[in-house]
Amino acid sequence: MKQIDDGQIKKDDQHYVLHAWAKQKNIHSKMIKKGEGVFFWDESGKKYYDMCSQLVYLNVGHNHPKLMEEFRHIGEIPLAAPGFATASKAELARKIIEVAPKNMAKVFFANGGADSNDHAVKIARMATGRYKIFSRYRSYHGATFGAGNLSGESRRFVVEPGIPGFIKFDTPYLYRESIDFESEEAATAFYLDRLNNQILYEGPDSIAAIFMEPIPGSNGVLVPPKGYLEGVRKLCDKYGILMICDEVMSGFGRTGKMFAVDHFDFEPDIMTFAKGVTCGYSPLGGVIVSEKVAQYFDDHVLMTGLTYSGHTVSAQIGCATLDIYKEEHLIDHAAAMGEVLAERLEKLYRFASVGDVRHIGLFAAVELVKDKATKEPLIAYGLDYGKDTVGLMSRFVGLLSENGFYTYSHESSVMIAPPLIITERQINEAMDIFENVLAQFEKNDLFADQTVISK
Ligand SMILES: Cc1ncc(COP(=O)(O)O)c(C=O)c1O
Repeated sequence: MKQIDDGQIKKDDQHYVLHAWAKQKNIHSKMIKKGEGVFFWDESGKKYYDMCSQLVYLNVGHNHPKLMEEFRHIGEIPLAAPGFATASKAELARKIIEVAPKNMAKVFFANGGADSNDHAVKIARMATGRYKIFSRYRSYHGATFGAGNLSGESRRFVVEPGIPGFIKFDTPYLYRESIDFESEEAATAFYLDRLNNQILYEGPDSIAAIFMEPIPGSNGVLVPPKGYLEGVRKLCDKYGILMICDEVMSGFGRTGKMFAVDHFDFEPDIMTFAKGVTCGYSPLGGVIVSEKVAQYFDDHVLMTGLTYSGHTVSAQIGCATLDIYKEEHLIDHAAAMGEVLAERLEKLYRFASVGDVRHIGLFAAVELVKDKATKEPLIAYGLDYGKDTVGLMSRFVGLLSENGFYTYSHESSVMIAPPLIITERQINEAMDIFENVLAQFEKNDLFADQTVISK
């Protein structure tokens, strides 16, 4: 590609590119000129800690030498349509099954997270002969029409009225629950009882699947109360419903284990993945199905497909990525670094604006509030997109960024999910920045400033 100067690139970007989830006027996107490990540099030479791994996918960090080397060999592979057996697709499927829960048997490859979820819905409907799909409020499953309907948060409003038979239920969100449960077990019993009722009201025989992020990510890293996911599994078994876990964000080491479900005592019937399988070096996603679901398709046609299912290049990058997790012991490292991060996060409660801190491995969110006693959120539900583009959270993450801590926020939660290769020293340096910015915001009473929130 010929060299184009930065000014022209930025002008063309503003002129010709539609940017997701944003009003287009006044978008001035930065550029990434260089990336290395947990750092990247913009066009002015400014250095940032990438504390959200771009969109929580760059688990192995920027510019990983092994993946860059793999790209140099890409030209040697013949491209092949999905009907062909290819070395990279076959090897990647085997490698994924080797690290997936024991009951998992086969992989259908897709292009990213949302379409993987769409395919999982189709697979569940075919395998059960039922049509209803349960998913949760406070979840994000992607932006295609199907995944948009699965999603429970406000980004789904644009695809409504929704697909008939897509039913929502509550995510346990103990910090914002009006009931003060005496224990996590009591909360679990409450939410499972409600879900059981809802299944009965909807008619269990019509429900194909319960779809959930085991630990909702974008919606604030909502780690479930003890026994909750195991309880959902039992309800699924009781009513013949398939349990589908969306591991698009939580999979491949993010939580300190290979998959988030590995922290719990159950196995799902279907799992979806994307992001960490290639760490975004090439787009890829997929659906992993259990032996039982796989067997159904021995004698029934799998009525779904994609031109790029198991794309040769992406699958090769996927194989190399999975090797890196193993060779560099990244999952164990993420667990160890998760403990370092946890220690820093727990200390944030001393700040008046920090309402709740949730974390598991290198997957964390800091929820900010206007008032700790009333828990009044910085941004009311649903005001995230459009209405708060110049509001408090944008200014807070903007100030973080100015200070070299790059991340994003959703509603009142700030995401902290650095590349899994981060070191103890780097975590401490980045969290020093976070605390300084928080202190600056509080000192200048910026969280109390309402003037721009209704724009
Ligand atoms: C849990 C989850 N599922 C699905 C998606 C959608 O993935 P994609 O943007 O690759 O379609 C995301 C994206 O952030 C996600 O976090």
